[in-house]
Amino acid sequence: MNEHVTSFGSTASGEAVEQVTLRSGALSCGILTYGGALRFLTAPDKQGHPVDVVLGFDTMEDYQKQDKYMGALVGRHANRIGGSKFSLDGKSYSLAANDGSNHLHGGILGFDKQLWKLESVSDNQAVLSLVSPDMQEGYPGNLSVRVTYTLEGGALTIRYIAQTDRKTICNLTNHSYFNLAGHASGPVLDQEIQLVAQNFTPADNESLPTGVLAPVAGTPMDLRKLTPIGTHIDDGFDQLRWAGGYDHNWAVDGEAGVLRPAARAVCRTTGISMDVETTLPGIQFYSANYLDGCPAGKDGTPYAKRWAFCMETQFFPNATNCPAFAQPVLAPGETFDHTTVYRFATV
Ligand code: BGC
Repeated sequence: MNEHVTSFGSTASGEAVEQVTLRSGALSCGILTYGGALRFLTAPDKQGHPVDVVLGFDTMEDYQKQDKYMGALVGRHANRIGGSKFSLDGKSYSLAANDGSNHLHGGILGFDKQLWKLESVSDNQAVLSLVSPDMQEGYPGNLSVRVTYTLEGGALTIRYIAQTDRKTICNLTNHSYFNLAGHASGPVLDQEIQLVAQNFTPADNESLPTGVLAPVAGTPMDLRKLTPIGTHIDDGFDQLRWAGGYDHNWAVDGEAGVLRPAARAVCRTTGISMDVETTLPGIQFYSANYLDGCPAGKDGTPYAKRWAFCMETQFFPNATNCPAFAQPVLAPGETFDHTTVYRFATV
């Protein structure tokens, strides 16, 4: 342990969990070795007062009780894979089904529920690693993952690196729940969102993309201009009705592999803005339709439906079953190397 690392109790099976605190200028954040989860992130409001803009829990017991992927690093494959099946080079693989018959966020023992190793820590940077053994949750290949959290220049940057010894699929993200008015401030419906995307991937009623890209123009999925989250969320549009709000993947404009703008969010009350940039092809904008207050969050706050939003950068959900989408395939000798930046400022 050092000045940046404190104990965060232990898991139900007695493994010690640590919290790492990073600081840079007016930003600070806390990251748990459990799930590599971002537990707090404070950014200054327009008066310069620190606001904790992510949801989280106060105890390890609550982290283990919840099933919302709160702040966690998600893998080996973020979001859904239909029928919990995919094939690679003609060989089919069955994954753990944990969302009806589908596979969600890496399965029953996803990366969000594993203990990450703290490789190094400095004032503003922490490196976490994890090795996911061959056939864990059904995925082929021993996958070595390194995630670097860096606070710098008003931004939190998350860099994901992974390598495998056997061809596999890999799609890593972070599942932070943001509320730019503060984690305990209630619904986010008046916070404004912009997604830099002309197209989204329509999903079926199990939230599985069907394999086509659809233009957002003329639909409530058009968030190309800053729009309050609540403006269209309850429109009688099947995509929104089926998911209880926004829970879809948008195809970020521009070239994947290049860091480019993906999203922006603004809260007029605190004046805090967040710009998201990513090298990944897509972004899941999720309006926390399934938050249910259980267990209570930090400071006993009963986080409820739509009290936050997630901006999960990713390969498109179900891409392995949709040949037209970029494939999240990783072969030996290749490196999965993607970066997402969350940049904070005030308006
Ligand atoms: C998914 C939601 C899911 C949530 C889990 C999101 O990424 O798209 O459908 O319920 O994660 O908390």
